[in-house]
Amino acid sequence: MDKKDKGVRMDRRGFLTRTAAAAGAGAILAGGLKQTKAQTTRKSTGKLDDINVGIIGVGAQGQVLLDSCLKAGQSIPGLRFKAVCDIWAFNRNQVVNKLKQYNKDIKSFVDYKDMLADETLDLDALIVATPDWLHAEHAMAGMNAGLHVYCEKEMSNSLELAKKMVLTSRKTGKLLQIGHQRRSNPRYLHAVNNIVLDSKLLGRVMQGYGQWNRAVSDDIGWPAKEALSAADLAKYGYDTMSRFRNWRWYYDFGGGPIVDLGSHQIDIFSWIFKSNPKSVIASGGKDYYDAHEWYDNVMCIFEYENDEGMARAFYQVQTTTRHGGFHEAFMGEYGTLVISEVPRDGNWLEKEINSPDWNKWVKKGYLKEVSTKMAKTKTSNVMLDVRVSPAPPKWPLPIELGTLPHQPHLHNFFNAVRGKAKLNCPAEIGYETAVAVLAVNNAVKSQKKIEFKKEEFEVHA
Ligand SMILES: NC(=O)c1ccc[n+]([C@@H]2O[C@H](COP(=O)([O-])OP(=O)(O)OC[C@H]3O[C@@H](n4cnc5c(N)ncnc54)[C@H](O)[C@@H]3O)[C@@H](O)[C@H]2O)c1
Repeated sequence: MDKKDKGVRMDRRGFLTRTAAAAGAGAILAGGLKQTKAQTTRKSTGKLDDINVGIIGVGAQGQVLLDSCLKAGQSIPGLRFKAVCDIWAFNRNQVVNKLKQYNKDIKSFVDYKDMLADETLDLDALIVATPDWLHAEHAMAGMNAGLHVYCEKEMSNSLELAKKMVLTSRKTGKLLQIGHQRRSNPRYLHAVNNIVLDSKLLGRVMQGYGQWNRAVSDDIGWPAKEALSAADLAKYGYDTMSRFRNWRWYYDFGGGPIVDLGSHQIDIFSWIFKSNPKSVIASGGKDYYDAHEWYDNVMCIFEYENDEGMARAFYQVQTTTRHGGFHEAFMGEYGTLVISEVPRDGNWLEKEINSPDWNKWVKKGYLKEVSTKMAKTKTSNVMLDVRVSPAPPKWPLPIELGTLPHQPHLHNFFNAVRGKAKLNCPAEIGYETAVAVLAVNNAVKSQKKIEFKKEEFEVHA
C-alpha cells in the first residue's frame, strides 16, 4: 500500500497514525480514553522512545511550556522538539534560535497547515499555546493529522467549538490534554485526593473560595519595528496590533479575566465537590479599562450538590487590585485547606477541631506539623504544612515546583502518550470546566441566576 493512500501513513515505528480509521483500528479503551496501538506497544516494551513534538504559538505561555519541558537539569526525558509555528516572526525567531541548542535542524513555520503536512517531521505530539479562539482549529487539525495534543486552557472561548474538540479526540482516538495544570500538581493532588476526598481531614466541605487578583497594569506592548503589517494582521483575523497582543480582553479572541484566570480555580471547585455546579450568579463590570471589551472585575457564586448535600463556592477575579494574590480555600467541618499554585499564597491546612481520625492520618504522613514557632506566630490554630508529605511519586524537589508548575501536567501528557498514564485533564474535563466558566460572563450580562442541567456538561455526537 502506498504510504500516502487515503491519508494514512506509517510512522517510523511502523504504526498507522494518520487517520481516524487508523487510530480507531488500534484503539483500546483506557479510563474513557483511547490509546493507539503505538502507545500500547510502547507500554509493553517500557521503552522511553523519543517523542517528536511540534508547537503552535510561542508567546508568553508557549515559552513557559517549552522551558518546563527543557529546563536544564530538570527536563522531561525523551522529547525532541522538531518544529515551531507562530505567525509573529518576533516570537518565532527567538524561540527557534533557542531551540537550536537542542535540535540544530528544528524547522520554523508561519502556517500551521504547512507544519502538519510536513511528513519529514514525523511528529507524535503537538502543543497548542495560541490565543483561546484558535485552540479548536489548531487542536483539531493536530488530532486529525494523527497527533496527540496538549492544548492550553481555556479549551475554547466557544462551547460549540469545545464540544467539537471533545468529539475529534474521540473520533481520532488521539489524546487531548487541556492545560489546567493544577490537575497534575503534586501538592494539589495530595491536598484534594488524599486530604479532602480520601482521609476527609476537613470533614464535610461546604464552602469553597477562590480569588485571582492583579494590580492595575498597562496593556501589553511590542517593539515598534516588530509590528505585523496591517495585511498580515488582517490575514490572521486581527485588526490592530494592540488587539493581537491583548487578545484576552476582546470578545472575538478570549473570555476576559474570569475565563483567563478563573478557569484554573473554578476547575478545582468541581474536582473538590465531585460534581459540576447546579447554578451560578455573578456581578461584574468594566470599571476601569475603557479600551477593553470584557469585564475587568467579576465576583460570582456557584452552587454544588453532591452526595453529602449542598456546597457553595465564591470566586472573584479583580484586575484593579492585587490584594491577596491568588489562591483557593476549602472550608470543612474540621478545618480549612488553603492552597495556591504559588506555595507562598496557600500551602497549609488550618485545623479547627480534630477530625475523628486526625492522628491516624498525621501518623501516615498526610500532614506534617510545622515548627511550634511557625504555629505560634502565624495563627492561633495549629498550622500544618502539606508541602512535602507524603511526596507524590517521583517529584523529588517539591520546593522547586514553584518555578515549573506546568511541568507535572506536561509530564502526565507525555506519559499518557507513552501509554504509561491516564490524562489528568482530558477533553471531557476541560469541557465541563468551560461550561461552568463561560457561563459566568453570561450571568454577569443577564444579571440572572443561571441554572445548569446535568446534560449541559456532557458531550454526545
Ligand atoms: N496554563 C496557564 O497557566 C496559562 C498561562 C498563560 C496563558 N495560558 C494560555 O496560553 C495561551 C497563549 O497565551 P499567551 O499568554 O502565551 O498569549 P501570547 O499572546 O503571549 O502568545 C500567543 C502566541 O500565539 C501566536 N499566534 C497568534 N495567532 C496565531 C496563529 N494563527 N498561528 C500561529 N500562531 C499564532 C502569537 O503570535 C503569539 O506568539 C492562551 O490560551 C492562554 O489562555 C495558559
